[in-house]
Amino acid sequence: MINYSSGLLWYICILSICILSTILVNMITPTISEPEIIAWGSFNYCQSLALRYGVLRRPLGMFFDSNGFDAEKNDIHIVVKCGEWVVGCLILTDYRVGFKMRQVAVLDDWQGKGVGKKMVAYAEKIAIDCGKTMMVLHARQSAIPFYLSLNYHIEGDEFEEVGLPHYSMYKLMGR
Ligand SMILES: CC(C)(COP(=O)(O)OP(=O)(O)OC[C@H]1O[C@@H](n2cnc3c(N)ncnc32)[C@H](O)[C@@H]1OP(=O)(O)O)[C@@H](O)C(=O)NCCC(=O)NCCS
Repeated sequence: MINYSSGLLWYICILSICILSTILVNMITPTISEPEIIAWGSFNYCQSLALRYGVLRRPLGMFFDSNGFDAEKNDIHIVVKCGEWVVGCLILTDYRVGFKMRQVAVLDDWQGKGVGKKMVAYAEKIAIDCGKTMMVLHARQSAIPFYLSLNYHIEGDEFEEVGLPHYSMYKLMGR
């Protein structure tokens, strides 16, 4: 019962933030910030959860799911903001000699304007600063041209994740 209530509270909070942020992002002057690292659990982190839900899960008919947020505590959370509102986000998870890039998402209205490219470049700089030699990711088929344009390579065959065709991709850092 307690878990159900707190899950519902999360859902209502995130949904409210999602609606509010969309309205406000459309009202203010569209100037985007440089990518930055935000803290897990911060207000910007909550905004990024709303963004991830709206861009990555809702179109697939998936529910908002707060399971797994605790496991992200030690990840690096990168966002790009317009004013105080998150318009793009990306997560880096420690993965052997590299990082795994996950949950890459840009608000619909901001796609195709260089936000994703900025975030990935910033993530790669962090990887190099951390002494990582490789970036790996699972790319949706629809996002393959984006990663190819940033010099990522496909490895192996197509596989399915969240009901969509995906490919493993990688890029060696510092090359
Ligand atoms: C994929 C995504 C993160 C890309 O971010 P974006 O901000 O829209 O991309 P950018 O504007 O930074 O594009 C960077 C480059 O990739 C190219 N590109 C991006 N999407 C492309 C596409 N679908 N087809 C061809 N090229 C594409 C751009 O032309 C640009 O090339 P340029 O630098 O030569 O001009 C974003 O569109 C998104 O959130 N999509 C929906 C969610 C998703 O698929 N996430 C990835 C899960 S693996």
